[in-house]
This record gives sequence, C-alpha cells and structure tokens, in this order.
Amino acid sequence: MIFYFSGTGNTRWAAEHLAAATGERLLFIPEELKGDCRYTLAAGERIGFCFPTHGWQPPRIVRQFIRRLFLRGQGSMVKGQGLMDKGQLSAQACSLDPSSPRPQDASTPRRTLRSAQRDAPHLESSHYCYALTTCGDSIGRTMEILNKELAAVGLKASSVFSLTMPESYVCLPFMKTDKPERECEKIAVATRELEQYTDLIVRRVPDVTHTHRGLTPWTFSHVIGAYFNARMITDKPFTVDADRCIHCGQCAKACPTGDVTMKPSQDGAVLPQWHHDGSCTNCLACYHHCPCHAINYGRITRQRGQYYFGHGNSYN
Ligand SMILES: Cc1cc2nc3c(=O)[nH]c(=O)nc-3n(C[C@H](O)[C@H](O)[C@H](O)COP(=O)(O)O)c2cc1C
Ligand code: SF4
Ligand code: SF4
Repeated sequence: MIFYFSGTGNTRWAAEHLAAATGERLLFIPEELKGDCRYTLAAGERIGFCFPTHGWQPPRIVRQFIRRLFLRGQGSMVKGQGLMDKGQLSAQACSLDPSSPRPQDASTPRRTLRSAQRDAPHLESSHYCYALTTCGDSIGRTMEILNKELAAVGLKASSVFSLTMPESYVCLPFMKTDKPERECEKIAVATRELEQYTDLIVRRVPDVTHTHRGLTPWTFSHVIGAYFNARMITDKPFTVDADRCIHCGQCAKACPTGDVTMKPSQDGAVLPQWHHDGSCTNCLACYHHCPCHAINYGRITRQRGQYYFGHGNSYN
C-alpha cells in the first residue's frame, strides 16, 4: 500500500506511477484521516509513503497520519524493514524532537542508487517499507524526521528517495514558480529518476538513499524549517478578490483537507471562505488551481505565477 499526500499534483503523479508498477493500493492521507487509520497488510505487501517536502520536513498532515497509523501484518517480516512484534504496530503519541543531534548530519552513506542498481535483484518476501518525497529544490533532513516518526510506530523506511519537481511555494519574497523551460527540465529528470526508483522499489532493494538534501540540511530542517512549520502553516493570510472570482468552486474542490467552503458573502456573492480551524496544511492547491488568480496569500502572490502538475498538458 502507498500512503500519499499531494497538493499540486507532483507527488500524486509519482505515487500513481508506483501504484501502477507495484499493483498496490494507493491511499490519500486526507481521506484516510477521516477513518480509523488501521490497516491489514497482505502477505509481502510493501508500505510506501509519498509526500511533498514542506519547509524541509514532512508536511504536518503526514506526521499527524503516522501518529495515528496502526498496521497489522499477515506475511513474513524482516527486521528493520517492516513490522516489529508479530506484525502488530500500535500508534502511540510521539513527541517530536526538533533538535536531533548535528553529528548525524554527516549522514552514514548508505547504498547509492548506482550501486543498488548494479546489485542482483532482491526478492525478499517482507513488508518492504520505503519513502519518496518531491521537492522544488532540496529536502534537508526530511527523511530522517520521517524515520523518527515512523520509529514511534515500529516502522522504518529502508530506502528513501527524492524527486526535484516544479516549485509550488510562492509565499516568500525569494520563492517563485519555475519558468516553463525549467519546469519541463525538472519533469524530464524526475521522469528518469522515478523509473529508476520504481525499479528498485519493485525489486524491494533495501538501504538505498537517493535524495537531494541541499547544502546545510540540519539548518534547513531544524532551524528554518522548524520555524516555518511552527509559525507559517496557516490559512489566515488567504484572501479572494471578489471582482475576479467567477464562483466556479475550483479552489474548494482542490483543497485536500476541506478547509475551503463556498459561501455567500455579505453582498450575496458566493465566494471561497477558509475555516481558520487548523486544518490547512499550506499546500497552496487552492491558490494554484484558481483559473482567475483571484486567490492571494498576503500581498506577495499578486506578483507570482501559478502551477499544478499537468496544467499545460505538455508532459502528461
Ligand atoms: C508549504 C510548502 C513548503 C515547501 N517547502 C519546500 C522545501 O522546504 N524544499 C523544497 O525544495 N521545496 C519545498 N516546497 C515545494 C514542494 O515541495 C514541491 O513543489 C512539491 O513537489 C509539491 O508537491 P505536490 O505537488 O505533490 O504538492 C514547498 C511547497 C509548499 C507548498
Ligand atoms: S486551504 Fe489551500 S493551502 Fe490550505 S490545505 Fe486547503 S488547499 Fe491547501
Ligand atoms: S477557484 Fe478562483 S474563481 Fe473559482 S471560486 Fe475559487 S476564487 Fe473564485
């Protein structure tokens, strides 16, 4: 099974590709959070986590899901790759430690993509666990943070991957959508890398790390990212330009967490409204999917472009 989250479609594209190649279930985390988050794995079923990087960390909604996750296994187990303790995992409240020690940054090099591909196929029957994140540039220590969350429920992503894809974050002065040529270039490289990752995942190759961590992963994740995720994941700055809005409801439809509702405003026009109830995960799907650029996040996005995977249909 593949648990995934996606706001603007980059991760959905990758997760759908993996689901097609493995023939395994594809489960959308916001939908799953409406249920009890309990699952029984089929014998040998892989466990995949796919999500975008948000502030050099896994998105808040993904971490919330993992803390509620309860898996029961049916098949054989391999230590460190799947289930502990007779295939039963119980989700416990796990407190985050944003100040993981710096020394781990000099990260123990694990198997590289090239060496993993050279190796003979791995055909172990286990609940092979892996994770893939998409990012615009770099992921910092996203996978270490993910594995810390997973450890609390008895799991470990044995192989971890990242894909650099078109940028979706546009709410800070230096953050912009990619130019069309850069967008196509990123998709072309990501397509090739995804093929390689898929091959390794299908063959259940363990201990592969192929990620783009950036220059200072610890500072990105535990200083800038920690501040970003603690303070800047909010729907409060969203506004809608009533004179631009055509009341199509695309923003509400695109919101994965149900944080946007179309409601009559004071003058009777039906406009999107954000709930301000903590459900926003800041994926910016509402902003990017508006056909009229009527939604803004503060003032800065008035000078920004829009993006979602497949918007130009030039690469899918
Ligand atoms: C709130 C937010 C934070 C982001 N933080 C990062 C980041 O720390 N590093 C990075 O390279 N890209 C970052 N991005 C870009 C996304 O990770 C990237 O565009 C991703 O592929 C989007 O995936 P999606 O289309 O599945 O939502 C961020 C995007 C958003 C919306
Ligand atoms: S309100 Fe917008 S940014 Fe927040 S979760 Fe919904 S779509 Fe994403
Ligand atoms: S997507 Fe844009 S135009 Fe459509 S209802 Fe939302 S704000 Fe209005």
